[in-house]
Amino acid sequence: MKQTALLAGAYLHHLCFESPNPEKLSDFYGKIMQMKPQSIGGNAWLCSGKNRQILIKEGMKNRLEFAAFSCRDEEGLNLLKERVKEEGIEVINLQPDLFQNDAISIVDQDGHNISFGLSKPNMNAESVLNGPLQHLTFSTLNVEKFVDFYVGKLGFCVSDRVLHSNGNLATCFVRSNHEHHTVACFKSDRIGVDHHSYEAGEWNAIRDWCDHFASMNIELMWGPGRHGPGNNLFVFVEDPDGNWIEISAELEVIHDRPSNDWPQEERTLNLWGKAILRS
Ligand SMILES: [Fe+2]
Repeated sequence: MKQTALLAGAYLHHLCFESPNPEKLSDFYGKIMQMKPQSIGGNAWLCSGKNRQILIKEGMKNRLEFAAFSCRDEEGLNLLKERVKEEGIEVINLQPDLFQNDAISIVDQDGHNISFGLSKPNMNAESVLNGPLQHLTFSTLNVEKFVDFYVGKLGFCVSDRVLHSNGNLATCFVRSNHEHHTVACFKSDRIGVDHHSYEAGEWNAIRDWCDHFASMNIELMWGPGRHGPGNNLFVFVEDPDGNWIEISAELEVIHDRPSNDWPQEERTLNLWGKAILRS
């Protein structure tokens, strides 16, 4: 099977969330996530930090308007465009402003808008704390359909699977570059976003993030812990809309290895202790 997304070196570049109160949410991302908010008109905000950007527009709470993946280069983007055409996937009229104007946008199996493009330079953004935007995870009713689309049609590569005792998929982690996962999907009783994650790099950076959260009176909702798949250290906080935010470190880098299967149990989600099991 052709691993087109992997060949394209796609990485999560930015997200666009809706919110009933975009100004309040963008203020949170400005102060707490060190992503300076800038009004872009129409009650929409661009929050920019170093290697992390989020758009927030007026709309439904917790709704992802789109996720945008940048490719390594034009050749990679063209491979994805050819693949989308070969698979007969419908292309939608969505050109993210933060991309050059030759992006391609599609709708995934659960109705999420996904764009692939080439990034524009983001020279001015500064953040004290390190944490490039790194992965997005979905909630779904059917992880098998997620795999059919992202692996079978777009050419993401499976890094690890988590299985229920009956063999059904509880979670699947897929990658489109050397990082253990750029996208993952959890079986749940709802369709949407589970969380998005920033990769801080090392353990001390998580300490610094947590000290920063403490100084802002933001309580951790989960962690610190270490995930089994990906072997990354993590803490989670919630934004004012209840979107889950992960700060991660030491996420596995994969050069070549077969995918592994893990049992659906607390230890898989957190080798150190308590887990939040989604199904
Ligand atoms: Fe994560």
